[in-house]
Amino acid sequence: MDARSHMTYIENTTISFFQNEFGFHFDEENKKRLKYLLTNRMKKNGLTSEKKYLEFICSKKGTHERQFMIDSFTVGETYFFRNSHHWNALKNKILPEIIRNKVVRNDMSLRVWSAACSSGEESYSLAIMISENMPHYKKWDIEILATDINEVSLNHARQGIYRESAFRETMDDCKNKYFSKSRGRYRIRNCFRKMITFEHFNLISKNGFPKHYSCFDIIFCRNVLMYFTSNIAAHIMEHIYQALNDEGYLFLGHAESHIIKNFSFKPLSFDNAFVYQKQRKKVNPLKKDTLEINKLQQKRKCIQKHPFEYLKNKSRNDSHINLSDKNYFHEALNLYSIGKIDDAQMLLNKNNHNKNLYSLILVGLIYVYKKDLQAAQIIFNEAQMIHDLTPETYMLGAMIHEEMNRFSEAINGCRNAIFLDQTFFYPHFRLGEMYRKLGDKEKMHKSFNNALKILHLEHSNRFKLFCVGYNKEFLEDYLKSNQ
Ligand SMILES: C[S@@+](CC[C@H](N)C(=O)[O-])C[C@H]1O[C@@H](n2cnc3c(N)ncnc32)[C@H](O)[C@@H]1O
Repeated sequence: MDARSHMTYIENTTISFFQNEFGFHFDEENKKRLKYLLTNRMKKNGLTSEKKYLEFICSKKGTHERQFMIDSFTVGETYFFRNSHHWNALKNKILPEIIRNKVVRNDMSLRVWSAACSSGEESYSLAIMISENMPHYKKWDIEILATDINEVSLNHARQGIYRESAFRETMDDCKNKYFSKSRGRYRIRNCFRKMITFEHFNLISKNGFPKHYSCFDIIFCRNVLMYFTSNIAAHIMEHIYQALNDEGYLFLGHAESHIIKNFSFKPLSFDNAFVYQKQRKKVNPLKKDTLEINKLQQKRKCIQKHPFEYLKNKSRNDSHINLSDKNYFHEALNLYSIGKIDDAQMLLNKNNHNKNLYSLILVGLIYVYKKDLQAAQIIFNEAQMIHDLTPETYMLGAMIHEEMNRFSEAINGCRNAIFLDQTFFYPHFRLGEMYRKLGDKEKMHKSFNNALKILHLEHSNRFKLFCVGYNKEFLEDYLKSNQ
């Protein structure tokens, strides 16, 4: 690789890092800014290469520097009562409806989340609106959570002091009633500050949403998802959907409504605004409830932290995951391995694939092949429900992450798969490929070496399942040439 293409490669790696970890979008303008900032920040931190800089911000020591970069690349444009149609809908329809329903149920609580609150104008608008429109609001248990990834904006929000420009859609009497003015700035009254909890939170958090981000009656998630790729936005929406109560309300920015198309929301139209109401859960027997999913996630965390401890106490019953258990699975696998993907899919659908773990995994792999990652993710969840310690399921999960360029999760998935079965060829191979992409030659060689050692031991059906389009001889040559 010549010096110039090496630089481009590293820049791309830095861009991928920020895209995958925080969802940032890099247009040409932002790429130029990144280049400029990288040069300055490397100098400031005494680092001699971008690779070292990237390693630094990924390390614990580099937390502040990472936050500095996050703060530099987030767009915090916002103001009080932005999009007046939303606020009219909230005031005239949604709050009265929620109050009516809650009073009937004798439930005097209200939980609201302003996700991506920026400098706090949206969250204070919520506090003001609730206090103005909920009779006896002090008797209610009202919680407003406001989160953002940008620490500078969050500090601004916590201070609650604003310039005139933050009030471009606010009536003067509201400004005078709820703010105190000093030296040309407006400070929100303390009683509203006390209604809100501000927290730092990355919507693309690797660990999903914290447990207390749940049971919301209203979520405002406006003008942030539009900056993410559609896969990332859909992934966040999955969590937002779970965090909302049944029949809870979701507010999105104007350009963001397409993101909910695969979720069960009812669009409600008010003048020029749409608000989305979560439909009552349809019970899916395989995905019983969030509690069960949380339990599985806990187990997965446990595996990552103390793998051997966890397995020691677990007797594995693999009888139902026998690779040779159903004829139709073999038939589908053969069709898949010769490229007749649609035929394989049809056969699996016809035979109620979700009864058999390996058929399910094959369906998941077909979705990955077809780049329908949302469907693949659903199949992955179902496979985990059937048996949560199956290396092949972890590998499917890793492949979904890799397709989304979420390399750290994909690497984790491969490692879990290897941990459960060290003779599983494909995770070693994929690790090598991912380390190559990330520019880590040492780890790439190590993974390829491991892959080569076990290539010929791999079970033929599992080889067909994961290595479609390859044969062992080809892979052997390929791995040897990369040693
Ligand atoms: C344009 S502002 C939207 C503010 C407010 N919701 C509104 O509509 O007026 C976008 C906010 O999203 C935040 N943001 C960007 N990426 C984020 C992420 N990965 N997690 C959480 N917040 C993020 C930014 O820091 C910024 O404050």
